[in-house]
Amino acid sequence: MKKFAFLLWVLSIPSLVISQIKVIPFPENVSTGQGQFRINSSFSISTTTQDPTLIKAVNRFYQQLNRQTAAYFIQDYITPGLSGTMRIQPGNAQALSIGMDESYQLAVTPQSIDLKSNTTIGAIHGLQTLLQLLTKDEQGFYFPELMIQDKPRFPWRGLMIDVARHFIPFDVIKRNIDAMATVKMNVLHLHLTDDEGFRIESKQFAKLHQLGSNGQYYTQEEMKQLIQYAAERGIMIIPEFDLPGHSQSWFVGYPELASLPGPYKPGPRFNTDKVKSIADMMVMVRTAPTPSIDPTKESVYQFLEKFLGEMKNLFPYAYVHVGADENNGAAWKANPQIQQYMKKNSIADTRALEDYFIKRMYGIVSKQKYRMIVWEEGFTPELPKDVIVQKWKSDMGPMGGTPISIANIVQQGNDVLVSSGFYLDHHFPAYMYYQNQPLSQYASQPPANAKGKVLGGEAAEWTEIADGKNIETRIWVNSAAIAERLWSPASQTDVNDLYTRLMNLNLLLDAQGLQHFANYERSLRAWKGSTDVNDLRLLTDVLTPIKGYKRLIPKMTMPKNKTQATAPLNELADCLPMNSFTKRQFRQLVTAYLQNQDIDAAKAIRAQLQAWTYLQWNSYQQPTLEAIRPHAVNLQLLSKLALEAMDERDKGVVLLDWVAKQQDLLKKAAQPVAETELDVLPELAALINGKLAAEPGSYSLF
Ligand code: ACM
Repeated sequence: MKKFAFLLWVLSIPSLVISQIKVIPFPENVSTGQGQFRINSSFSISTTTQDPTLIKAVNRFYQQLNRQTAAYFIQDYITPGLSGTMRIQPGNAQALSIGMDESYQLAVTPQSIDLKSNTTIGAIHGLQTLLQLLTKDEQGFYFPELMIQDKPRFPWRGLMIDVARHFIPFDVIKRNIDAMATVKMNVLHLHLTDDEGFRIESKQFAKLHQLGSNGQYYTQEEMKQLIQYAAERGIMIIPEFDLPGHSQSWFVGYPELASLPGPYKPGPRFNTDKVKSIADMMVMVRTAPTPSIDPTKESVYQFLEKFLGEMKNLFPYAYVHVGADENNGAAWKANPQIQQYMKKNSIADTRALEDYFIKRMYGIVSKQKYRMIVWEEGFTPELPKDVIVQKWKSDMGPMGGTPISIANIVQQGNDVLVSSGFYLDHHFPAYMYYQNQPLSQYASQPPANAKGKVLGGEAAEWTEIADGKNIETRIWVNSAAIAERLWSPASQTDVNDLYTRLMNLNLLLDAQGLQHFANYERSLRAWKGSTDVNDLRLLTDVLTPIKGYKRLIPKMTMPKNKTQATAPLNELADCLPMNSFTKRQFRQLVTAYLQNQDIDAAKAIRAQLQAWTYLQWNSYQQPTLEAIRPHAVNLQLLSKLALEAMDERDKGVVLLDWVAKQQDLLKKAAQPVAETELDVLPELAALINGKLAAEPGSYSLF
């Protein structure tokens, strides 16, 4: 549809409140009408395309809509042409690429639905929007009358999954792809190799996966299926082979590639047996020789050229990530031949040697017609301009060094992917990811001539303490907040509105089969040994895991590193969602009560507090549940106090002394218990203190 016609249409419809539109990511342009397109058995779809990818996507949409509405559609085939009550007119089929036209237009009237796009992927996005618009009232299901014109803010909206630390099974990857498609993410970056595992079959160098994976890897056939599955949903799978560090798994089968003789086995790169403290750990990270490839041997480059040639036949898109992160150079210092090579070739230090390695990799990657991506440590003044730099550091971290800003990178002429502020394994609430400070700061003052240099970003899920069982709970629904940050206009910033829509999405993803919520509930059932877990959920629904690396680092520094593949990730903190929606709803009520003296909110708050007051933490004879008893006690006590405060304030009593007396308990309740925290504490504190504090703008990592 022409822009002019769109504007006329918009002007002719009296606008309703936009917040009725519970879509994530929120579309660029929406205007709503008063009517509804009702779903009944005569719903039918036709399309002008023969493109099999789109036909499949339409069929998935059709079946899902039928399932959600139980409408028993009479039409059992998607018909060609424009005869259906829903009509899809996409442009030409096009191979997926970064920067392609992903736009679409959706027009819903009481009589018909029209979806138009210039490409297949645009139409696929439009179908996802429409599914999220499904609404129900007493008469049944409908789509609200509206007009949407939509396109992404950034062309690269990725999710990185580390499948090396813990292997993430095929079906779990597929479910993540489904969820990514729902929120219009378009790149799945698989971190395929790291110290702990080599997760892709190589036919040329079979000892890579055979000896480097404990048998947990994707065959090439499986990877082809995943690539196809993702492509049908508009998602490109892009591989990462992390070098020169993070590479122990390569050396189990091919020790001749390594800088030091080994022996090597898949596993953490540090031996933490002697580590006593986090300070020890920091020193070790900076100074201990860790497995790294030998950048001085020609045979290494010959190996890598053959290997990447094989992978190019598997991974069809234009990009490959070669890592370049967190190599401390200590293994290179410990090898006299490498030292000699550096002297002979006037390579000043190990940093310069890493630059030399990156340059050689650039040559190999370019020969394969791949475009290279590196983590930000690979960024130097000499880096060729077509290398994409993935920014990930949010502070100096244990490796030291200065984080490089987005502006630094684009000013040099390189494109950027933003992952700092998007690390899912920091276990932050959704609003933190949504705000993404590095991206927001950059967007508010972009340097001149930098338009388009920020390609977008990637949510990143590292899996030291995540596995196939809990990873969906780690990734979702926080990734949806990130997807919106990368798709929707920068002006879209309302956190309360985001949470309302996330709650809706949470249910949709659950209905689609994502296990993010089911895994949590399943864990509760297993611990209690019962299907009735309402008593547990009264407490656990308002707990979240502690944030930053406060779980990870202590686990790494334990005498037996607790992040290894055999560590059972079955603690409460492993299983809890990152966002307590009970907390979000409670916070909205507390805000309405304290700011506007809202009577209905006060009623709802009292009901919730009463429920917590009656919380019974039985003797469940289960260590995980026993461990969080202090939270149960604190929640109960604080709820009683909050009720008391509400009663007294209603009577007009000033509570200054009383409030002062409660501060010790509030402090005590802020202590983590079993690596979890009482997420609803700020709201309980607000009721007791009579004042709601703003949410933290940042959380410390360590
Ligand atoms: C990274 O987190 N080491 C890229």
